[in-house]
Amino acid sequence: MKKLKISVIPGDGIGKEVVPETLRVLDTLADLHGGVTFQYENHPWSCEYYLEHSVMMPDDGMARLHQTDAIYLGAVGNPKLVPDHVSLWGLLIKIRRECEQVINIRPAQYIEGVKSPLAEPNHFDFVVVRENSEGEYSEVGGRIHSGDDEIAIQNAIFTRKATERTIRYAFDLAQKRRGRVTSATKSNGIVHSMPFWDQVFHEVGHDWPTIETETNHIDALAAFLVSKPQHFDVIVASNLFGDILTDLGASIMGSIGIAPAANINLNGKYPSMFEPVHGSAPDIIGTGTANPIGQLWTAQMMLDHLGLEELGQLLLRAIKETIGEGIKTRDLGGTANTKEVVDHIIEKLRLY
Ligand code: NAD
Ligand code: IPM
Ligand code: MN
Repeated sequence: MKKLKISVIPGDGIGKEVVPETLRVLDTLADLHGGVTFQYENHPWSCEYYLEHSVMMPDDGMARLHQTDAIYLGAVGNPKLVPDHVSLWGLLIKIRRECEQVINIRPAQYIEGVKSPLAEPNHFDFVVVRENSEGEYSEVGGRIHSGDDEIAIQNAIFTRKATERTIRYAFDLAQKRRGRVTSATKSNGIVHSMPFWDQVFHEVGHDWPTIETETNHIDALAAFLVSKPQHFDVIVASNLFGDILTDLGASIMGSIGIAPAANINLNGKYPSMFEPVHGSAPDIIGTGTANPIGQLWTAQMMLDHLGLEELGQLLLRAIKETIGEGIKTRDLGGTANTKEVVDHIIEKLRLY
């Protein structure tokens, strides 16, 4: 029997609603498989935890995460209780950085039965490979002076190492997909870091002569995701550009509530972390309308990562069939609540 240890951090807001529900699905999958069990280590680290302990996670928190095979996270942030910069640097970004989860993978695809806001969504299917350790999210900067003289500074940092590994990851992925990489840039002489990004993209591209490459300015690319999303296969982007493009990707899918994501550790030293694209959705807490699909699809990415691709495929099938049968939460135009969607998915899995 294969035992997989999973750190579970529901976090804040709807993270606390969707994570426990989706664990029921993981348990069902383990039952079906027979050869694997998931052992969860539940951590209440959140903004409420901060109010009690003045930290987002305990001193030994990181060491505990390191001892597990994967981290399954809901969402972090409740600005009514704790300022976002405290909760995010103290938990979400801290884990991404200290577990060296240097790549963020975020697929977006047309799903049958989900109404896209696009007039002709036509089966788009692309993946954003987002640099996840530096760039515009660097730790260098801050606020100085006050009053009329106040200045806020953020130094974007682009190292060759991180830029190159992100771009290489994108080319590798494109090789397994449809063979096209689009680089998100802003190299028209305004942002200093981007001509460097372009140069690395160009250089790395020589190692994949069969992959089609193109470079789009981020503003135009955002527009193209709306006007011709089918064109894209793999999009490689810096931290902030990738963040923005993936909410847009989620939106053209039909709802941010269904978009999955994975923070990948490449060196095998620390666990990867699986958290959906969406946040804690403070506006719908307690309404029962939180869509569990983003979290569940994220679980599928975790299963894939853990070598349980078959279970992941079963889960994806159950997700898509459930949507196809109209069992949907409010964001997708349905009337089902979180639990009803999950119950339906579990019923389906038991029939496979
Ligand atoms: P958000 O993604 O939480 O919400 C944006 C909109 O999408 C809201 O209207 C919300 O109701 C809706 N939505 C999101 N997920 C949904 C779901 N599963 N089902 C149905 N509707 C859903 O973004 P925000 O409002 O900008 O951020 C709220 C908080 O979450 C902030 O504290 C922010 O910093 C944090 N945040 C955390 C993460 C993360 O932990 N990975 C990601 C994004 C935002
Ligand atoms: C995401 C979120 C985070 C990010 C925030 C909450 C720091 O928006 O995971 O997309 O920008 O990476
Ligand atoms: Mn985001």
